[in-house]
Amino acid sequence: MSTTRTQVAIVGAGPAGLLLSHLLDRAGIDSVLLENRSPDYVLGRIRAGVLESSSVDLLSEVGLGERIAREGDEHRGIYLQWTAEGQGERHHLDFVDHVGRSVWVYGQTEVTKDLMAARERAGQQSHYEVRDVELHDVAGDRPAVTFTDRDGTHQRLEADAVAGCDGFHGPSRAGIPADVRRTWERVYPYAWLGVLAEVAPSTDELIYAWHPDGFALHSMRSRTVSRLYLQVPPDEDVAQWPDDRVWEALATRLGHGQDGWTLQDGPIVEKSVLPMRSFVSTPMRHGRLFLAGDAAHIVPPTGAKGLNLAIADVTLLARALTAWLVEGSSTLVDSYSEDALRRVWRCTHFSWWMTSMLHTLPPGQGDAFDQQLQLSQLRWVTSSQAGAAGLAENYAGLPIGF
Ligand code: FAD
Ligand code: PHB
Repeated sequence: MSTTRTQVAIVGAGPAGLLLSHLLDRAGIDSVLLENRSPDYVLGRIRAGVLESSSVDLLSEVGLGERIAREGDEHRGIYLQWTAEGQGERHHLDFVDHVGRSVWVYGQTEVTKDLMAARERAGQQSHYEVRDVELHDVAGDRPAVTFTDRDGTHQRLEADAVAGCDGFHGPSRAGIPADVRRTWERVYPYAWLGVLAEVAPSTDELIYAWHPDGFALHSMRSRTVSRLYLQVPPDEDVAQWPDDRVWEALATRLGHGQDGWTLQDGPIVEKSVLPMRSFVSTPMRHGRLFLAGDAAHIVPPTGAKGLNLAIADVTLLARALTAWLVEGSSTLVDSYSEDALRRVWRCTHFSWWMTSMLHTLPPGQGDAFDQQLQLSQLRWVTSSQAGAAGLAENYAGLPIGF
C-alpha cells in the first residue's frame, strides 16, 4: 500500500467537494479529492438548476462567475399558479421588488464543469473511479482515508482533516459514531418525474403550479432546453409515462386558461423519477471529520435549495479550515457544525413548506380541507406584502453567514 499526505482529504467530487477544494487552494491549502465515479458520469448527472444570489456572489468572488454572467439567466422571481374549481390563476412574485435579490438559472452540470476546470488549472490531485473508500481515526490527530485507485493500487492518504462531501449515499456520515449522531427524517408520499426536453421554454421565469391532479414545475436550462417536473406517486415506474402522457399532463397542470398561454412540447432527452425526502444528520463535525452538503442533509427540491446549501456549507468550512490550518485558530472549526446547521434548518423548513403548499396529498392522507389550506396559503403569498417577502427572502436566499 502506498502512503501519501495532504492537508485536507476530500471524499466526493460533487459541487461540495469540488468547490471546497477550490476555496482551499485559494487559501494555499493542499487537498486531494477522491471520487468513486468517472468525470463524465459526474458531469452527466442532471440535477439542480437554480442558484441563489449569495451562491452567485460567492462563485464570482472566487473567480468562477464569468460563465454564469455570460451564459446564465438572471430571474427576478417566479410564477405561482393554481387551478381550483376549473379556474386557473397565475401570479408573478418579484423577489427583487420584495427583498432586492434575484436568482440565476445555471445548471449544476455547468457549475460542476467550471469547478472541474478550476481544479485542473490549480494542479491539485484528484482520483476518480476509486473503490473501497474507508475513513480511519477521524477522532484522533492523524486521520486517514484508504482506497483502491483506478489502477487497482491500494492507497493510504493521511491528512490534517477529512471533508465528507460524498452525498447522501457516501460512507463519510457513518464516520460519526452512532452514539453521537442524531438524525431527523421525513419521507413524502409523492415523487417527481423529471424530464429534460429540447424545446424553448414556454415561460420567461419558473412556474410552480398547484393542480388537483398534482404539482407541476416548468423550469429551464437554456433558451433551447426546458426542464419540467410532474408530481407522481412514490416509486413510480417511468415506463408508465410515455412522452405523450408526460406532455398531456404538463399541459393540463401548467395551463391556466388565460391569455392564450400554451405549453410548447418537443423531444424528451432524459426522464427519471426523484424521491422526495427531508433529512438532517448532526453533528456535522466529529474530531477531524467535517461533513458538508448532501452527506449531512437532504431537502426536497421544491425550494431549489440542495445545491445552494452545499455551496453555503463549504464556504463556512473553507473559512474554518483556513483559520485553523493557516492561522492556528480553532474557533471557527469548533463552531462549524452549529453555524452550518442554522442555515440547514432554515432551508429544511422552507423546502418542507414549499413542498407542503404545492403538492396534493394521496387519498387517505389528505382531503378537501387540506386543499383549501394550500390554496389559502398560495393566495396569501401572492397578495400580501409580508407573505410574498417571506417567500422571496427564503427563495432568493439568506446571506451565507445567516
Ligand atoms: P453530490 O452532488 O451527491 O456529490 C457527492 C459525490 O460523492 C458524488 O459525486 C458521488 O459520486 C461521490 N461519492 C459517493 N460515494 C462515494 C464514495 N464511496 N467514494 C468517493 N466518492 C463518493 N437540488 C435542487 O436544488 N434542484 C434539483 O432539481 C435537484 N435535483 C436532484 C436530482 C437528483 C437525482 C439528486 C440526487 C439530487 C438533486 N438535487 C436537486 C439536489 C442537489 O443536486 C444536491 O443537493 C447537490 O448535488 C449536493 O451536492 P453534494 O456535492 O453535497 O453531493
Ligand atoms: C430545476 O431546474 O431542475 C429546478 C428548479 C427549481 C426547483 C427544482 C428544480 O425548485
